[in-house]
Amino acid sequence: MKNVLAFVHDVIIAEVPKDKIGIDATLGNGHDTLFLSRHLKTVFAFDIQADAIETAKRNRHLENRDNVRLIRDSHVNMAVYVAANIGVIMFNFGYLPGGDKTITTSADTSLEAVQVALEVVDDDGLVTLVFYPGHPEGKREVTMLLPYLENLDSKTYSVMKYHTVNRESAPFAVIIKKHGG
Ligand SMILES: C[S@@+](CC[C@H](N)C(=O)[O-])C[C@H]1O[C@@H](n2cnc3c(N)ncnc32)[C@H](O)[C@@H]1O
Repeated sequence: MKNVLAFVHDVIIAEVPKDKIGIDATLGNGHDTLFLSRHLKTVFAFDIQADAIETAKRNRHLENRDNVRLIRDSHVNMAVYVAANIGVIMFNFGYLPGGDKTITTSADTSLEAVQVALEVVDDDGLVTLVFYPGHPEGKREVTMLLPYLENLDSKTYSVMKYHTVNRESAPFAVIIKKHGG
């Protein structure tokens, strides 16, 4: 069966036209950025950690890609850098795998950034979220964001969840599609 990230990638390939801009709101080790850069015209990737930006710059798969812009800033500020033609915005919450586990996305800023993302993504575009309820801040993110997502106006947003239902702490994905006016 597909894991959550593979599932998210498949939906993006099926739904997002290649001439759109993609945003990776949580660069980390750059796997999602690399995926987006292979599928889309341009990618903006954000991380607050210098380590993540430096690792991505040294990633031999990413270094030759001229359609990726790496930005050391919070995803809350994404609209300062790009505000049009955005086909997809990916969030992969949590901490940098293999890095400092104390530097993790946090519920308050994650909620704020998702609100920005839902505003700036194009009509017919996607916002994808991967949650990790197996660690404390991840649980807080679920508690804070899920009720917000469940209450989005269904005329404007379709909100789907891909979830292992027999393992409470398993990561899960939420994919939001914004409808055209
Ligand atoms: C789970 S990792 C992302 C994994 C990544 N997508 C990959 O393919 O390896 C989460 C990342 O979010 C970053 N992060 C935490 N808070 C952030 C914020 N406010 N804005 C941007 N990135 C943030 C962390 O530094 C960490 O590298």
